Amino acid sequence: MLTDFGTHPADRVPKAELHAHLEGTIHPPVLRMLADRNGIDLPEGVLDADDNYLWTDFNDFLKIYDMAASIIRTPRDYYDLTLDYLGRVAAEGGLYVEILTSPDHVFDLGMGLQDQLDAVVEAIDHARAQFGVETRISQTIVRHYGLERSLAAADAIAAHPHPYVTGFQMAGAEDAYRPGDFRPAYDIAVQAGLRCTAHTGEWLGPASIRETLEALPMVERLGHGVRAIHDPALVAELAERRIPFEVCPGSNVALSVFESPEQHALRGLWEAGCVITLASDDPPYFHTSLGAEYRFAMDVAGLSVADLFDITRNALNAGFMDAGTRESLLQRVEAEAEAEANA
Ligand code: ADE
Ligand code: ZN
Repeated sequence: MLTDFGTHPADRVPKAELHAHLEGTIHPPVLRMLADRNGIDLPEGVLDADDNYLWTDFNDFLKIYDMAASIIRTPRDYYDLTLDYLGRVAAEGGLYVEILTSPDHVFDLGMGLQDQLDAVVEAIDHARAQFGVETRISQTIVRHYGLERSLAAADAIAAHPHPYVTGFQMAGAEDAYRPGDFRPAYDIAVQAGLRCTAHTGEWLGPASIRETLEALPMVERLGHGVRAIHDPALVAELAERRIPFEVCPGSNVALSVFESPEQHALRGLWEAGCVITLASDDPPYFHTSLGAEYRFAMDVAGLSVADLFDITRNALNAGFMDAGTRESLLQRVEAEAEAEANA
């Protein structure tokens, strides 16, 4: 969360993100509060004394993520952490968020999926009323948990429909299994009426993106996709096909997907005409926020305020929401764009 919000031109832009892992958004003080309330000690090595999440590399990050998520015990915990995150993203101008929730984490807690879903839905409704932010849910399978669990999760997702549950995707270790191995899970999701995306081209390179799009033709957007930059022909194809990217610069820089912020793919993908959206992934883990991602796009990738408005439009057009919701959110953006033009 930006402590100096309002001091940067990017702060004036209304924002939308299509990629925030719910368990990855937990503000450290909220995690400590949940541990306290649940009468459990925070596992050693999750947070340091200054409330930084501790991890060393991508696999360690995934491990710490699961350890932190294990502090959640009740549907009320899910309600509180969801409302807290949506309030924080709205305070930085967020109008629309797609949160990634994973049934596997819920099962591991021994919680019923319906109970968790009811709590998250209630938080979404309260966040809309209190902060004016709209939210949809993208249900997520975790690659490194294996194929059997991906199928069980997909079945459970299909059995728990809700108008806010509009998306389906896979996250986790990108080198676990092959994209096509998850086709049966994706087929279940499509049958359940969900629209699909996938983490790809975050940890592995262009070949992983090509393979994902080929093996899972229902995938409409790329979760990250940034390593496409190493293959100009692929970048040109993705731009031509208008496949939206869910770009999370803070996450990529923290996880050393690129050697330095300046080497991040955002500028190159933008110049190639790709459909770019910005998101914060797991913001407290990477010391980022949606507002910080928009600032990065200006300060490091050289985009303009007008470009940032287009990025928000891209996210709303690529978002998995109903047409009426999309239209009213786009109208809010256009009203702010007009005010910006007249300022
Ligand atoms: N789960 C949470 N954050 C993730 C990321 N950035 N990549 C893959 N899986 C994740
Ligand atoms: Zn992610």
